[in-house]
Amino acid sequence: MNDIAKMGSLAPDATDTDLSAFWMPFTANRQYKAAPRLLARAQDMHYYTPEGRAVLDGTAGLWCVNAGHCRKPIVDAIAQAAGSLDFAPTFQMGHPMAFELSRQLVALAGKPFSQVFFTNSGSEAVDSALKMALAYHRARGEGQRTRLIGRERGYNGVGFGGISVGGISANRKTFSGALLPAVDHLPHTHDLAHNAYSRGQPAWGAHLADELERLIALHDASTIAAVIVEPVAGSTGVLVPPVGYLRKLREITERHGILLIFDEVITGFGRIGQPFGFQQLGVVPDLFTVAKGINSGTVPMGAVFAREGIYDAFMQGPAGSIEFFHGYTYSAHPLACAASLATLKLYQDEGLLTRAAELAAYWEDALHALKGTRHVIDIRNIGLMGAVELESRAGAVGARAYDAHVKAFFDEGIMIRYTGDIIALSPPLIVQKAHIDELVGKLGKVLATID
Ligand SMILES: Cc1ncc(COP(=O)(O)O)c(C=O)c1O
Repeated sequence: MNDIAKMGSLAPDATDTDLSAFWMPFTANRQYKAAPRLLARAQDMHYYTPEGRAVLDGTAGLWCVNAGHCRKPIVDAIAQAAGSLDFAPTFQMGHPMAFELSRQLVALAGKPFSQVFFTNSGSEAVDSALKMALAYHRARGEGQRTRLIGRERGYNGVGFGGISVGGISANRKTFSGALLPAVDHLPHTHDLAHNAYSRGQPAWGAHLADELERLIALHDASTIAAVIVEPVAGSTGVLVPPVGYLRKLREITERHGILLIFDEVITGFGRIGQPFGFQQLGVVPDLFTVAKGINSGTVPMGAVFAREGIYDAFMQGPAGSIEFFHGYTYSAHPLACAASLATLKLYQDEGLLTRAAELAAYWEDALHALKGTRHVIDIRNIGLMGAVELESRAGAVGARAYDAHVKAFFDEGIMIRYTGDIIALSPPLIVQKAHIDELVGKLGKVLATID
């Protein structure tokens, strides 16, 4: 074990007290600290525990390590940047990598996308996109368009904008008095009665997009700035859009001058078969957000892509006036840019951004083979995303999936993610068929043995 790996180890006499200083995000702190699951190092498809036990990564970390772990070209690029340009402001200054990366990202998205705005996370990307939408309308003399429409069960990060348009009640209820005021929500698209065990996009549910017409009739289109949805809802448990649903949203928003924002923080960078989810699903938004896979999860970074005309609408007034009063100290941080440039090259060299399309059928068959396994009530998939929904124990939502997660980690050496009683899977895009067999086979074994 090298020195850095050792830093990831707990001292042999570690106790709960040693873990107490870290207030862990989105974690049942007491439960975790009673049964810690520590990851000390990683390489390619695997994590390694402090004791050196290999754990197959079924979740690309947190939907982000698309190129696999600790890939040398990315590691080298980050080290090189750290030693040559540790930081450079992008307020009133710039550095070449930020401009080069923007050019490459815009080329990857293709027309009509023409500009990229950098952030440090998906949450910041979402809040930036929402602000951009409001400012865009104002710049065009439609400043009364202030309403934002999100979707039930949507996860758009944890900024006040993101939780306001988002639709996960646990993330909202504590802050309900402080959410953005002018927000409404579309219904979610999850319906087991109609769509259980759909392979790819479910056939039923396009009509749920018509709810947008109802919201427009209620609020009037002239008050609505933007609609934001994840093309595939990820964090809530992989809800794949029904056939025709996103197209309807596009038609309705376009007809009413409302911007359509796709939150591609999970679907961006090859997760469902094309570089971006909108390309795979064939529906082009006005703005879209990314993070995670932008540099394979190595250095915090997010971004908003804007289609042609949006940036131009801001470019008014005296040339010396700042057009958009928004940005972050670390927007386009050199280390994040270097990591992203190296990641894009690796994606390109290894064909990773279309690999999910190549493996999608194999992945789908493997996952759906779990049908009939104890506790399973639904299986769904698209690209290299998948979910296995379990029946909840009476009065204990999430307990069964938690048990599965712990058993998977300790007994089977696989890392799976759970939300409520849904197990979500999204392996790194370098995954091989043998890894898929191992992941799904071991998950089946876990499900057969938990209560
Ligand atoms: C669709 C979506 N939007 C936004 C976010 C927030 O990203 P971050 O955790 O980087 O702030 C996430 C994170 O999972 C996400 O899945």
